[in-house]
Amino acid sequence: MPSLFDPIQLGAITAPNRILMAPLTRGRATREHVPTPLMAQYYAQRASAGLIISEATGISQQGLGWPFAPGLWSDAQVAAWKPATQAVHDAGGRIVAQIWHMGRQVHSSVTGEQPVSSSATTSPGKVHTYDGRQPFETARALDIAEIPGLLDSYARATENALTAGFDGVQIHAANGYLIDEFLRDNANFRTDAYGGSVDNRTRLLREVATRVASVAGADRTAVRLSPNGESQGVNDSDPASLFVPAARQLSDIGIAFLELREPGPDGTFGRSDVPHLSPEIRKVFDGPLVLNSDYVTLAAAQERIDAGVADAISFGRSFLANPDLPTRLANGAPLNEAVMATWYSQGPEGYVDYPTLAA
Ligand SMILES: Cc1cc2nc3c(=O)[nH]c(=O)nc-3n(C[C@H](O)[C@H](O)[C@H](O)COP(=O)(O)O)c2cc1C
Repeated sequence: MPSLFDPIQLGAITAPNRILMAPLTRGRATREHVPTPLMAQYYAQRASAGLIISEATGISQQGLGWPFAPGLWSDAQVAAWKPATQAVHDAGGRIVAQIWHMGRQVHSSVTGEQPVSSSATTSPGKVHTYDGRQPFETARALDIAEIPGLLDSYARATENALTAGFDGVQIHAANGYLIDEFLRDNANFRTDAYGGSVDNRTRLLREVATRVASVAGADRTAVRLSPNGESQGVNDSDPASLFVPAARQLSDIGIAFLELREPGPDGTFGRSDVPHLSPEIRKVFDGPLVLNSDYVTLAAAQERIDAGVADAISFGRSFLANPDLPTRLANGAPLNEAVMATWYSQGPEGYVDYPTLAA
């Protein structure tokens, strides 16, 4: 079995190691969702990742409700992403853009309109806004006539990502956001071609993946799913019957890689008693499979590769706090702890000031 330090082909992207950086929202863009120079510094610091998956990046203002998160729908955003992708490439790295429609997990004070979802539902809990956390608003169901426009937004964001210098895109279909709200049966009550049967609930994912692949090439299109257990109120009564066929469809499209966020019962960023579906998904997904969540030690990550379930592992908080994570894992060096207070704060503190090992 390969080691985490062996290269891997992820579609068209050659990653020099299998230690990927998981997507991490950090809120360092402007209020207009334009990337800042600080972001170039942050990503370049982490260029030794086999591949960087960027923070979730909005495909449209309708789909982006996270304060100070970046977007990819305007020329200003494209221009401001260029120094970041260039800095990563100059430092010898690779980066794909995670493209995002947040569905019902937004507030109208940020997006300027009522949230949209598969159905008229309300997310539990509170939503981040520029004025602190507020109760969620009830979403309206997307009209079927709006789906072509939605697909156009994904296509445009993909085109923009490539223009901005990204090496590809990852479709964010996890964590209770729009595509996940179509996939899972506690959020999707539609009676049209996008609701009901598994084939109908996976239709939007399939259409988005096909459309994005038509722009970027399937070999530069990746997908992230969170198959096991509840995410931000979104859940499914029979995850295996949904996510195994979904993975098979993505395999047929020929995407570059599939990443699964699978928290366990002792997870520290979400937890779930629902068994991991990765062994079942592995059997039907022919491309590289990347696993995530709570892989803190090298041994735990390598074990999934040795077991034949994963081809690579993505690290979230470890990469957030350790710009030189691959070197630290290789040397058995201690890891810096990620400081939660600055996960989503603005400015350089807790962002570009995590130390690397002394040279
Ligand atoms: C600060 C922070 C921001 C995150 N932002 C995103 C995101 O933008 N997109 C996404 O798919 N997951 C996001 N996640 C989830 C991570 O990608 C990852 O699944 C999670 O941190 C668990 O992996 P870890 O145990 O390696 O940290 C975020 C997690 C954290 C801690």
